Amino acid sequence: MKGKLRKGVLLAGGNGTRLHPLTIGVSKHLLPVYDKPMIYYSLSLLMLADVREILVITCPKNQANFKDLLGDGSQWGIQLNYAIQDEPNGIAEALIIAEDFLDGAPSCLVLGDNLLYGHSLTMHLKKAGAQTEGATILACHVTNPSAYGVVDLDGNDKPITITEKPSKTTSHNAVPGIYFYDETAPRKAASLTRSSRGELEITDLNRIYLEQNQLDVCLLNQGFTWFDTGTHASLNEASDFIKAVEKRMGLKIGCPEEIAYLKRWVTAEAIIANMQTNLNSDYNKYLQYMVNQNPDNHQ
Ligand code: G1P
Repeated sequence: MKGKLRKGVLLAGGNGTRLHPLTIGVSKHLLPVYDKPMIYYSLSLLMLADVREILVITCPKNQANFKDLLGDGSQWGIQLNYAIQDEPNGIAEALIIAEDFLDGAPSCLVLGDNLLYGHSLTMHLKKAGAQTEGATILACHVTNPSAYGVVDLDGNDKPITITEKPSKTTSHNAVPGIYFYDETAPRKAASLTRSSRGELEITDLNRIYLEQNQLDVCLLNQGFTWFDTGTHASLNEASDFIKAVEKRMGLKIGCPEEIAYLKRWVTAEAIIANMQTNLNSDYNKYLQYMVNQNPDNHQ
């Protein structure tokens, strides 16, 4: 890919209307999923994929809150930039907004309300991130595919069709909100027209890649969990899941400090220095515990 490193686009726009009244005063992506702000989980996906230069796209009203929380990213050895999506014009618009930031680099677009956890996740993310041409999406078996982008696969897991929220589905493979694109994505996104719900659909962009025979699908089988946290029920389910797994393992999911430390992007001393409070919070206690471990002993 002409030597350019893949950059990240983290979309945290929208009005979160399905979560009212929770989202009247605060962005959906800053709501807690158990012990962390929701956006930590999608940011962690980018970090696990080794993406270190990221554009965070928010709605105008909430940008200051995101800057307060995430800063410039240096505390995690990454670089965060910010942009605004004025109106919820659809996910594909994020790539148009990000065009100057991407500057001809391949991208990984992640939705700030998606949470993925499972066996070999890092391996899948790195493999998708290593693709130099075309696009790679994930697919995950769900009970309610009609709520999502849905991909039909042939016997070799090659995509045949991809449809946004089909009323009748022939496949249970929903497409989670993480997409890997080559450098042509902003140009392709700019050619899209609005859907019946008035948005530039990410599924329409993926279909362009499919029609050009340039869409790869990474099928996540048993052992994976995907939440999109867009409704009260799914937000609670995600929190319960994180709580149960973290409590049992004594390890955290979606902890940017830990990922940065294990990748040696930051030192233990820097993590300790960046703790804004003392050890009153369980999160900070965990960071203290984590940096006392040898990074070589982790996977
Ligand atoms: C969006 C996408 C859909 C995708 C989903 C993942 O849906 O349009 O293709 O499966 O995110 O969370 P929306 O959140 O707009 O309903």
